[in-house]
Amino acid sequence: MSEAFVTPGEATLSAGQYDDMVRSAHSQTEAFWLQQSRRLTWQTPPSQASRSDFLNDVRIDWYADGFLNASENCLDRHVATHPDKTALIWEGQDDGQREVLSYRALHARVCRLANVLRRLGVKKGDCVAIHLPMVAEGIIAMLACARIGAIHVVLFGGFSAEGLAERLTDSAAVVVLTADVARRGDKRIPSKTTMDDAITRCGGASRVRHVVVVPVTGASVPMQAGRDLRYEDEVAREAEECPAERMNAQDPLFLLYTSGSTGRPKGLVHSTGGYLTWAAFTHAVVFDHKADDIFWCTADTSWITGHTYVVYGPLANGGTIMVYEGLPSWPEPGRWWDVIDRNGVTVFYTSPTVVRAAMREDDTVVRSRSLKSLRILGTVGEPISPEAWHWFHDEVGKGRCAVVDTWWQTETGGVMITAAAGCVVPRPGAASRPLPGVEAVLLDAQGTEITGAGEGLLCMARSWPGQAMSIWQDHERFRQTYFTTCPGYYFTGDGARREEDGYYWITGRVDDVVNVSGHRIGTAEIEDAVATDHEVVESAAVGIPHDLKGQGLVVFVVPREQGVFDPEAVNRAIAAGVGRYAVPEKIYVVRDLPKTRSGKIVRRLLRKIAAHDLEGLGDLSTLADPEIVDELIATVKAQES
Ligand code: PRX
Repeated sequence: MSEAFVTPGEATLSAGQYDDMVRSAHSQTEAFWLQQSRRLTWQTPPSQASRSDFLNDVRIDWYADGFLNASENCLDRHVATHPDKTALIWEGQDDGQREVLSYRALHARVCRLANVLRRLGVKKGDCVAIHLPMVAEGIIAMLACARIGAIHVVLFGGFSAEGLAERLTDSAAVVVLTADVARRGDKRIPSKTTMDDAITRCGGASRVRHVVVVPVTGASVPMQAGRDLRYEDEVAREAEECPAERMNAQDPLFLLYTSGSTGRPKGLVHSTGGYLTWAAFTHAVVFDHKADDIFWCTADTSWITGHTYVVYGPLANGGTIMVYEGLPSWPEPGRWWDVIDRNGVTVFYTSPTVVRAAMREDDTVVRSRSLKSLRILGTVGEPISPEAWHWFHDEVGKGRCAVVDTWWQTETGGVMITAAAGCVVPRPGAASRPLPGVEAVLLDAQGTEITGAGEGLLCMARSWPGQAMSIWQDHERFRQTYFTTCPGYYFTGDGARREEDGYYWITGRVDDVVNVSGHRIGTAEIEDAVATDHEVVESAAVGIPHDLKGQGLVVFVVPREQGVFDPEAVNRAIAAGVGRYAVPEKIYVVRDLPKTRSGKIVRRLLRKIAAHDLEGLGDLSTLADPEIVDELIATVKAQES
């Protein structure tokens, strides 16, 4: 392995210092995490790190007697030391749209909005929904909530009205911030009217008192008198100072909904003190943070990556963040490379899907750009193949940059397994090594820890500061989902392989979650949406390998009446129930599904049949109707277009 893969100039931590950190996190855990908490500024510093417990009722407990405010950590302390430093560079997708905010300016904008929210009656512990595209106001809104102790719930712009309604009801959000209309290349997304529809669907369950509309395109949208307010009018009325709420480390900072193996999305609750410590620690260590970095994490703020590495990690560390509203290749291929060159981006953190799409473009696209400002490249959300890793390293990094493949989850709050830049030699295709303090283990089917090389269920033996505390309003579901498969451990839902020397290779989800372009989609969520079509008897959604997206979604549908059923109805049901982003690659209309005698759908077979992987279908004698398999193979072939 070439050393060029490791060293992005002079790394802040040497490999030796990093190894020392791993050792002290393991052997002096309490002291190590107390020391890491000092990356933050506390109103009352914690005297203890963790009293977490994975057994009994499960308690995730970090820095419990500490008090702090996340927005003070991301803003005020930097305003005090370097007010004119750039905190945020924003570029819109249309040429010439650019805004640069210093720490002082960002602080002022956050305070104005925080004052608006307070005036609207938002109290500490209330939920505020943020439904905005990648505009500065989305980040301002998150920090404004944090400032007054409101819990933010960022909602993806691609959710359908039904999907939004479900999350608004569950979180009991009292105020919503939405856009008039959002842009996505040529497309226009009617954010405000979709939100109106969502609130109507909540009916009596809605707690939304106000909808604050951010003018993204300036389009005229219907406004409901008394409820709907214009962002620019509201902030103009407020002062640029707003006292920050004193928050306990265990108070929730935000909820973020993610998919699991049941239909209902779960609102994972992240704490203030533990989460922010983890965001700051991992951002500094994984990306070798330096004061003059321009850090561009391309994730949407509605995903955990956007929370931790667009907003909280880099801003807690006093960094400069790049935020770009548009798509990688719109209006022309290479758009994102131009953003890097124009703004001198030094760290570029994106998804393998983006890398794979860029690889397919003509080589001249990437080669005609300088990209010389780059120091570190990162990927997240799905495995990156060695081929894509090398392309990223050679063509985007021009062979000079460290490449970090980072494995983590919404539940983990921040990166867990990676080859930290400058500290760990990466192995292309492998997530590599657990970070200091991450006690990753592999368990076999009996729940016994595997030692040395092996393959099994990826679990964590100990809590870490970034660990989600609970599922909103449903701690029992939290316990059941993550702590009962392997009692005494946090179960990630992923499988992994470990080499003799401790390097991890993620083998993928072992539950019914499909990862499409790094977006987690629960197959049960899809099936619930399909079930709303009364012409459907039952359905099964499965993931298959997809060249560009990593995994693609395929749905098998058993209609009430063969011959007259229109598969388009399935797409409509999914678009309405979940969102257009979850519309499948392919729908197969079939007579029946393969089931065991006890009626359980054998998804393994469906996955293989849909992927045309007909080798080793295994023992079919346990099926209620073994003949269905040949019939399904023939049906899939016949319906292939
Ligand atoms: O299966 C793993 C996959 O994405 C899942 C987590 O999805 P989500 O909570 O949406 O968070 C994505 C961004 C942090 C994991 O259970 N995953 C994430 N990163 C990687 C990965 N699979 C392989 N390699 C990765 N680097």
